[in-house]
Amino acid sequence: MRVVLSLGGSVLAPELDPDRVARHAAVIERLAGEGCSLGAVVGGGGVAREYIGAARQLGANEVQLDQIGIDVTRINARLLVAALGAGVDPTPAHDYDEAGDAIRRGDISVMGGVMPGQTTDAVAAALAEYIDADLLVYATNADGIYDADPNESDDAVKFDELTPTELVEVIVPMSRDAGTSAPVDLVAAKLIERAGMRTVVLDGSDPDAIEGAVLRGEHTGTDVVPEGGDRPTYWAQR
Ligand code: UTP
Repeated sequence: MRVVLSLGGSVLAPELDPDRVARHAAVIERLAGEGCSLGAVVGGGGVAREYIGAARQLGANEVQLDQIGIDVTRINARLLVAALGAGVDPTPAHDYDEAGDAIRRGDISVMGGVMPGQTTDAVAAALAEYIDADLLVYATNADGIYDADPNESDDAVKFDELTPTELVEVIVPMSRDAGTSAPVDLVAAKLIERAGMRTVVLDGSDPDAIEGAVLRGEHTGTDVVPEGGDRPTYWAQR
């Protein structure tokens, strides 16, 4: 079973905490031990936000800010590599070919951002499509996809399950509203729709929740199930 795991920066590195990184690495190693081929895509977190904020004050343009963000995601990728034992490609992949090659060799591949104008949400979706993953998991700081921003609206309702097209429909208005941050960005949602990619969006603050979702399909987040797809039974197909 091929799995792409997107570890949001707010999940892996809200601030630098080696224990948190080690707990996520342990889950990735356990999944590999259960026979999963794995690509991990890591976000920038609080450190990226600090750098981007400082550079913005210094007059950097948006592309330069994105480049700084990408550099920080790659440093976080190195942090996760450092926490993983044997079996990980020691160099964070710079593109999908490198990640795909490493995964084909049987290594775990870790990568950060690849190009300005997007976030690592989109990188994870593209990598999942590239390696024809069975499952894409977004470990985020939200516990699923809601019909409105739960931080803004007490009436927001969480979806247990959506089709990829419904996911795009839910994300589009969130992307239009300044200040509303969707748990998965629009580029990623469109890639998931294009690929018909089975996806789980869950709260990744507890790394064990990721393991349960991948191995047993147990989670309290949102399943994105392609149109015409069966009920999510990927965990039984290892
Ligand atoms: P993140 O993927 O962590 O962005 O990449 P985010 O979603 O804004 O952060 P969190 O998860 O909510 O904390 C950090 C930054 O790196 C740049 C963007 O500027 C992004 O905001 N980036 C990342 C790119 O420009 N391209 C990429 O492929 C990835």
